[in-house]
Amino acid sequence: MLSQQTIDIVKSTVPVLEQHGKTITTVFYKNMFEAHPELLNIFNHANQSRGRQQTALANAVYAAAANIDNLGAILPAVIQISHKHRSLGILPEHYPIVGYHLLGAIKEVLGDAATPEIITAWGEAYGVIADAFIGVEKDMYDTVEAENEGWRTFKDFTIVEKVQESDVITSFYFKPVDGKKLPSYKPGQYITIRFQIPGDEYMINRQYSLSQAPGNDTFRISVKREDECMPNGKASVHIHKNLNVGDTVELSAPAGDFFLDTDSETPVTLISGGVGITPMMAMYETIANETPNRPVAFLHSARTRSHQAFHNVLNDINEKLSNSTYKALFSEEGDGFITADFLAEHVLKGSDVYVCGPTPFMQAVVSALHKNGVANEKIHFEFFGPAEQLELVQV
Ligand code: HEM
Repeated sequence: MLSQQTIDIVKSTVPVLEQHGKTITTVFYKNMFEAHPELLNIFNHANQSRGRQQTALANAVYAAAANIDNLGAILPAVIQISHKHRSLGILPEHYPIVGYHLLGAIKEVLGDAATPEIITAWGEAYGVIADAFIGVEKDMYDTVEAENEGWRTFKDFTIVEKVQESDVITSFYFKPVDGKKLPSYKPGQYITIRFQIPGDEYMINRQYSLSQAPGNDTFRISVKREDECMPNGKASVHIHKNLNVGDTVELSAPAGDFFLDTDSETPVTLISGGVGITPMMAMYETIANETPNRPVAFLHSARTRSHQAFHNVLNDINEKLSNSTYKALFSEEGDGFITADFLAEHVLKGSDVYVCGPTPFMQAVVSALHKNGVANEKIHFEFFGPAEQLELVQV
């Protein structure tokens, strides 16, 4: 239990953290990686170089500090982060390392302003926050292990099929080396793939949505080849060029809180941009397999026809379903982008709307949905990479 004095000190330092939050976490990461370079086997170097992880951690710390006497209020955020942590194999023993370097960075950046009282209060508060994460994550690991004997963090999978889906997107199908049955998952969830590029010092971890409905004897991911000079380029180019049928990689069990509510019977609108199509494929196929009468609209935006994956599969599903529409717009072929007018015409009345795509796409689509009067609680979205605050834009 934190004392009222500790709670007061922590809450009153939130504005200071807001002011220096990003500097503190930048210093924190630098010092932590110097002292524990082995953690570079877990963290995404591309997110680090873009500063996205720093922002994500800083936001989580403000939210936790502001709610330190009522952490239940931020439970949804804790669960979302814990899914990511569980999928990366973050363990209780990692938390003191983060705590030590976070407090060190607060001292370093704030200097004399970080009085011993403030540092002590933050040390206690960090302990409470860390325990909340560790508890949620323990339950997640226990569930994975209970359902998949011997699989707690990563396990070996073989690539059994590799299929080019478009000019830029290729699918990979995986089977577990131990021959055990695959767990079911919720359509929209992701897995982490872990591998090492020959000659590199550290391992690479990447999250990819499972791009087919559950119930198969393989996991499938569909990966976009990014430009090699982009932060994520190196990993995706390696996956495309050098990972082939017969190769082994490590995967963690499906994770994530962005998934289709399969218990609900409400209409569903699935909106994706580019490779954001992947979780939508799992959702659309699941509706086709399990609730074929459920009204569904599949709306997709791609640069050109040759960039778009799964066109034939989508056509087949759409024709098979009595209550389905499928529309694709190709921005570089004269169709323009998805607009508020387009959405007013095609989003199903009363539907739950799922959105996935690059950040500017999501800003435009979610802003347009708001403009059209779609209630916030009906809109579900997922970012590529660390979750960010979605900034609405004028549409
Ligand atoms: C991701 C917060 C502890 C490793 C994240 C994210 C947040 C966060 C907000 C982004 C989630 C997303 O992708 O949407 C926190 C907080 C912690 C904590 C508040 C302490 C209470 C740890 C620890 C480790 C760790 C102890 C391991 C040393 C990671 C990694 C990612 C991550 C590797 C993914 C980052 C990436 O892919 O760049 N964390 N975290 N975190 N966290 Fe934590």
